[in-house]
Amino acid sequence: MGYFITFEGVEGCGKTTQTKLLSKFLTTRGIGTVLTREPGGCPIADKIRAILLDAENRAMSPLAELMLYAAARAQHVTEVIHPALEAGKVVLCDRFCDATVAYQSFGRGIDRDIIDKLNIQACQGVSPDLTILVDCDPTLGLARARRRIEATSGPREERFELEELAFHHRVRDGYRQLAADQPDRFLVIDGSDNINNIFAIISKQVSIRIPEALRAVC
Ligand SMILES: Nc1ncnc2c1ncn2[C@@H]1O[C@H](COP(=O)(O)OP(=O)(O)O)[C@@H](O)[C@H]1O
Ligand SMILES: [Mg+2]
Repeated sequence: MGYFITFEGVEGCGKTTQTKLLSKFLTTRGIGTVLTREPGGCPIADKIRAILLDAENRAMSPLAELMLYAAARAQHVTEVIHPALEAGKVVLCDRFCDATVAYQSFGRGIDRDIIDKLNIQACQGVSPDLTILVDCDPTLGLARARRRIEATSGPREERFELEELAFHHRVRDGYRQLAADQPDRFLVIDGSDNINNIFAIISKQVSIRIPEALRAVC
């Protein structure tokens, strides 16, 4: 089996930036790495992503949203994550099941039990070996995310960025609670630091934790 690393945190905390840096770091050391993201990661799940992040879909009910995430995840695990882990790869996923707990339970208030059961079904036995929580104040993260959205062409994936600040604070607190409950799986990093300092911690911790068989030259 490979090694499964997920990245979590509020909008604009730096997940995508750090996931890409880590992918490059591992790849240049000859470690088979698959970089993917949620929602999405394969063609069917990417179609669901477009529905989930479209700011025009303001009328989406919390339950419909939850089930779309679960559907996208089920497809992504089947098509991408499980086969890559079976092939002995390091899989880096930009958001995964903890995001559903943070956003749909802590953020939207859906019963945690329903979410945990759906996650178990969608994940099909796959669970992260390491989860990197890039923790940052939502005000700072949203300001960064807004700059990124304005600078990016194509569809404006901003349904969550348009949520009220209190929602993002509940999400951040939810993530911190999850990390406190599972300290062995989570690595919590201060996302207000600069990109290079954050990456220095991540690359060091990943190099230590990655199984011997996978880090021949790491
Ligand atoms: N530590 C950081 N300090 C300052 N800016 C950052 C930092 N990390 C990321 N950014 C910038 O903030 C924006 C959002 O980062 P991104 O990695 O897309 O966040 P996320 O994927 O968590 O939403 C990007 O324009 C990125 O270049
Ligand atoms: Mg991102």
